[in-house]
Amino acid sequence: MYAANLLLFVITYILNSNSYSSQFNAEPLLGNTYVITAHDNVEEQKICLSPGCIHTASKVLEYMDPEVDPCDDFYEFTCGNFLKKTNIPDDKSSVTSFSIISDMLQEQLRTMIEEPIQDNEPKPFQLTKKLYRACMNKTLIENEGLRTIHAILQELGGWPVLEGPMWSEADFDWRQSVYRFRKVGYSVDYFIDFSVGVDVKNSTKRIIDLDQASLGLRREFLTKGLDDKIVGAYYNYMVDIAVLFGADRDRAVRELRESLEFEMKLANVSKIR
Ligand SMILES: *[C@@H]1O[C@H](CO)[C@@H](O)[C@H](O)[C@H]1NC(C)=O
Ligand SMILES: *[C@@H]1O[C@H](CO)[C@@H](O)[C@H](O)[C@H]1NC(C)=O
Ligand SMILES: *[C@@H]1O[C@H](CO)[C@@H](O)[C@H](O)[C@H]1NC(C)=O
Repeated sequence: MYAANLLLFVITYILNSNSYSSQFNAEPLLGNTYVITAHDNVEEQKICLSPGCIHTASKVLEYMDPEVDPCDDFYEFTCGNFLKKTNIPDDKSSVTSFSIISDMLQEQLRTMIEEPIQDNEPKPFQLTKKLYRACMNKTLIENEGLRTIHAILQELGGWPVLEGPMWSEADFDWRQSVYRFRKVGYSVDYFIDFSVGVDVKNSTKRIIDLDQASLGLRREFLTKGLDDKIVGAYYNYMVDIAVLFGADRDRAVRELRESLEFEMKLANVSKIR
């Protein structure tokens, strides 16, 4: 964030140092429309005057605090007004120039996704809108209860902690479970991360990419063990979810501890990212 702010600042500063005020006139026309005339044709070619560039430059200027001497405090000079003008809402722990853009994008996507499904729009768009509606339909979700998730778990081969004495370890084959997870559309990155990607050595080729497991909690926490507060919270969460899904609490406490210990071992053999 700081690096990008700084880069934008440096660009603006270079523009500034050419003292644009003497070369450009901005005249208000109707409402928000401005006409910018460059007096020097060479400068005009070098400076981007598209609406996007102008809006961005205006943001950079807005976030700067020109009252501060950059030689005294460079950060205050480039970002001072951003700090003064930005409120962090209660539901967020931070706000950055990127999170503002990202939030705006989310709002726009939400408006688009809530529009009625058109028969002539591409299938992925129709499916996205359907999925969103299904997720937002609380009445339907409440009526369904655990029925859907239980059916999915059965299709995946069953969740041992829910199966209880019905669980047959001998019938479990982790490779088969990977096939099933992929077929139903879930991630298969639990033991080994598997994907098809672009070959970084030759971008015209696709390669099979095998990587370490994708863990439920970051490696640096998991390797601290169960005494760690965050690992403890993760464990309680695992148990609570299993119980909500219908597991016996004592069984959940016992079996999910074993499962967490296995995940800790996976974390222990993982590379630090
Ligand atoms: C929720 O789902 C039910 C059952 O499919 C449907 O009748 C109802 O119209 C849906 N409600 C909304 C708000 O989409
Ligand atoms: C990259 O891969 C393509 C397709 O396999 C091949 O034709 C090409 O020669 C490769 N390029 C290099 C630089 O290896
Ligand atoms: C992680 O590995 C180290 C070295 O092999 C071992 O000493 C340690 O006990 C392991 N920790 C866990 C949580 O398995």
